Amino acid sequence: MKTEDYLQQKILTGIKPTGTPHFGNYFGAIKPALKYSKYFKDSLFFIADYHSLINQPKSLDLQDNIYEVAATWLACGLDPKKSLIFRQSDIPEILELAWILSCFAPKGMLNRAHAYKAFIDKNTKENKKDLESGINMGLYSYPVLMSSDILSFDSNVVPVGQDQLQHLEMCRDIAGKINHHYKNSNILTLPKALDKQELKKITGSSDNNFLENSIMGLDGQKMSKSYDNYIPLFAEEKKLRKLIMKIQTDSVGVNDPKDSNNSLIMDWYKLFATDLAREDSSFDALLNINKLVSDYKKGISWGEAKEELFQLVNKSLSGKRESYNKYMSDKKQLDKILLEGKDKARLIAKATLSRVKKVIFG
Ligand code: ADP
Ligand code: TRP
Repeated sequence: MKTEDYLQQKILTGIKPTGTPHFGNYFGAIKPALKYSKYFKDSLFFIADYHSLINQPKSLDLQDNIYEVAATWLACGLDPKKSLIFRQSDIPEILELAWILSCFAPKGMLNRAHAYKAFIDKNTKENKKDLESGINMGLYSYPVLMSSDILSFDSNVVPVGQDQLQHLEMCRDIAGKINHHYKNSNILTLPKALDKQELKKITGSSDNNFLENSIMGLDGQKMSKSYDNYIPLFAEEKKLRKLIMKIQTDSVGVNDPKDSNNSLIMDWYKLFATDLAREDSSFDALLNINKLVSDYKKGISWGEAKEELFQLVNKSLSGKRESYNKYMSDKKQLDKILLEGKDKARLIAKATLSRVKKVIFG
């Protein structure tokens, strides 16, 4: 496929409103989605609120989180005139298609889904009598609902972090089964992940800064809203500083040389430096990164390294944070934007569903 062919295609991704969006969501999903959306005919970004129900959130928390995710997308540059932003629960057609998909989704495949398996492993470790304890059907059929999100809009490319690639594979599997069963390869569109190879085809060149691994959290595990190890993307300055100071470091002496290849502070510094350079031409990412690498060799203290990181992250996010706070103080505007997105998105999902039902039921 040539670069110009993508101009006929759709890019789509979703984020669960399970908490405040963090650095991982930003670098793993929001940034690539917005950065490459210009190469596509349509870009659709949604708030996966039905998915977040699997954790049975309190209603007020859920509402807050939905606004936070919407405001984050907008503050990061989503232009509602060019892209759609909507709530999953505003599109009932997704659920109808999900049932159809579930009838073609092998149970054995869902048994292998990471989130389900992780729960079983946890129950096993805790010596629970019932290994399925605490697992609801929403968690179990999560990949089916996610497939429906993707297939309802005939999405071609789906930018997600590493942790979601298995779900994309399952989506392709289910869609392939339906297309095969009805001897019609055009019923459902098989999506692709946004990986390095795909990116090269889309843009015609390589992107050395493309994120291939998950962003790690304060405790060295994958950063996630579900663990207490994340930094909210738009944390206020004071809180941001406090959280950065909490990054776990090793016990190398204060003024001893430090390994910059094995340091979360350095990893985050590189990401934010590259990000800032893209928006502020007076900032030289390479120069600043090299300087910090050389400071590591000379024996910068962890406290000083964290301060350097804080200054950079704060500089890089302060403009977006201001915009985020503005959106968060105007919920009516957010409602209006989400409603407009819903109307447009529903038309697409309706058309897909009636196409599929026609093939199945005549
Ligand atoms: P969380 O795990 O924090 O609940 P979500 O599941 O809502 O995050 O993820 C939304 C998007 O952000 C997904 O595409 C996911 O792959 C991506 N993402 C989440 N955490 C990370 C991370 N630590 N590094 C990279 N991408 C991430
Ligand atoms: N499962 C994704 C996550 O946890 C969120 C999501 C739901 C999604 N539906 C989607 C992402 C469809 C991409 C496409 O991060």
